[in-house]
Amino acid sequence: MLSLLSWLTLSLVVVSGATSPWTLHERRSHIPPGWNRARKHEPSAIIPLRIALTQPNIDQIGSYLNDVSHPDSPNYGDHWTPDQVATKFAPTKETINTVRDWLLQSGVDPARVEVSPGKGWLHVNSTVGEVEGLLRAKYYVYVHDTGAEHVASESYHLPAHVTPHVDFVTPTIHFDARLAHEGGPTTSGIVTKVSAKAKGCDEEITPSCLRALYGLPNKPVSAKKNSFGIVEFTPQTHRQSDLNSFAKKYSTGLSGVSPKMVSIDGGVLQTKLTDDNYYAESSADLEYGMSLVGPKQEVTLYQVGDTHRGASFNNFLDAIDGFYCIFENGDDASHDTIYPDNVPGGYKGKQPCGTVKPTNVISTSYKYNEADLSDLYAGRQCLEYGKLGIMGITVLYPSGDDGVEGGRGLCLTPKGKQTSKGKVFNPSFPASCPFVTAVGATRIASGGSVHDPESAWDHSGGGWSNYFGMPAYQADAVKSYLKHHHPGYSGDIWNSTGKSRAYPDLSAIGYNVMIVIRDEVMTISGTSLSTPIVGAILTLVNDARINAGKRPIGFINSAIYSEKFSGAFHDVTTGTNPGCGTKGFEAVKGWDPVTGLGTPNFPRMVEAWLKLR
Ligand SMILES: *[C@@H]1O[C@H](CO)[C@@H](O)[C@H](O)[C@H]1NC(C)=O
Ligand SMILES: *[C@@H]1O[C@H](CO)[C@@H](O)[C@H](O)[C@H]1NC(C)=O
Repeated sequence: MLSLLSWLTLSLVVVSGATSPWTLHERRSHIPPGWNRARKHEPSAIIPLRIALTQPNIDQIGSYLNDVSHPDSPNYGDHWTPDQVATKFAPTKETINTVRDWLLQSGVDPARVEVSPGKGWLHVNSTVGEVEGLLRAKYYVYVHDTGAEHVASESYHLPAHVTPHVDFVTPTIHFDARLAHEGGPTTSGIVTKVSAKAKGCDEEITPSCLRALYGLPNKPVSAKKNSFGIVEFTPQTHRQSDLNSFAKKYSTGLSGVSPKMVSIDGGVLQTKLTDDNYYAESSADLEYGMSLVGPKQEVTLYQVGDTHRGASFNNFLDAIDGFYCIFENGDDASHDTIYPDNVPGGYKGKQPCGTVKPTNVISTSYKYNEADLSDLYAGRQCLEYGKLGIMGITVLYPSGDDGVEGGRGLCLTPKGKQTSKGKVFNPSFPASCPFVTAVGATRIASGGSVHDPESAWDHSGGGWSNYFGMPAYQADAVKSYLKHHHPGYSGDIWNSTGKSRAYPDLSAIGYNVMIVIRDEVMTISGTSLSTPIVGAILTLVNDARINAGKRPIGFINSAIYSEKFSGAFHDVTTGTNPGCGTKGFEAVKGWDPVTGLGTPNFPRMVEAWLKLR
């Protein structure tokens, strides 16, 4: 650390130099639905200003990831330790000094500027008046239809010489966005009760249908050394009695077997809210995740968030990665819950910070619309997924249940606003992050069997990101799709540049899947089902690798798009994913933005992965 004296000397030197011009750092294109700008904020109000500093080497993250996960790399499987990751990406002294000096020159008392423990952030408690001067911004109070209030600006600026050192500043333009859970009946009434009469796999998918379809083994062999985690956000919950009934009905051998629950930020299996909506997601994820890996493989349930406000992806990431929690300290009060949460019913404990052990595969069946989040917020979280990949963790997210449309029936306007009248395709996040594996959904055609090719589920989310560039691993596959199967839509309604991240990466059954919730047998459809199914299958791949004395597979995208994995997936070539008044994209031979590379061919996947070091 520099002494106070050297800070001051440094600032004097800079002060005598020319002042740099101001540049626009972020501007919001629209106010999110339901919010209205009510009034100018009082100049004397206090704002907890937080400045996210840029990380060195971060533009190399894709190549570091490739280095440990591409089949042709001599370093395949040489995953990094958390310390190696932290050292590589910690903000430099130059970055900290530049931003701090700017604050001091602007008249902020040095004693008020705090560097976060991991040096990822600068914090200053400041008045609205002072911040408006620092950021050339105007602060307003916005009021939601529900009466909730939020303080934000429409844009903000930074001196040009500071810009390269700052990712973003909060609170500024960012807005509250609720985590929408995928696949539950809240989205489009996807859960339906069924008659007791057993039917074929085209109408009722069971664990045995999936075993037959994907060629899954009956028993893992290295279960003790392996791990598989499923993330659920409270108030989503499940009942052990439903897992038991499911086990009995589908002879999974799992009656009485529970997931190993890890409570994060007050996570509980709540019982007060009894609507089916609160049980479908967790029950379905656990019933399939646990059945497919079998009773010998422990499944970790990360139950995240209190019953009051609930938690976000960042809250979960803080728990499993101390680097993200301390070093980046990236929680944003507008999206993430800040714990301890001192409201009645809020979790009053400390939030775990890197103390929760991550499993080899982490499956999460929840999502946002990409446009719910600012590109910088989504960007920082996406980088964290990249870091988890470098550390050897497989991160799976659903591609969404609304075809090319966003959740809640929203499409985009040409300016990027989400409305039900929009015509522009509305991608999902984190699926649109190039450092996660995005999973789409398929079905067995009516009258078909497990021996017939699957087709795309007509709600399977897919398309192109508006925030993230195209990763190298998928460039050839996507280029080929655009060359041979260009959808022909005008570039006004989708991101047709061919330069942005395309998803999903692969897919699995997500239609008419049998589950038990609240003592009733029902079917559920959704990419949120496909995700834990793929999670379980990748866990079985890890099982085979661990048994052969090898490392877990970690980030899989660099591998699955490569030559060495051609034939490891059942190509899905029929179906579309309509939305925003169009028929969406088409599933075709090879990769497509409906089903990705296809569905698991387990024996071929294992064969390919066992050939790697
Ligand atoms: C800002 O204010 C909060 C609440 O009063 C306090 O907990 C925090 O330590 C302050 N931070 C700084 C950098 O002064
Ligand atoms: C398309 O995606 C890229 C990110 O790869 C982004 O820079 C661009 O703004 C997007 N286009 C539209 C129209 O949103």
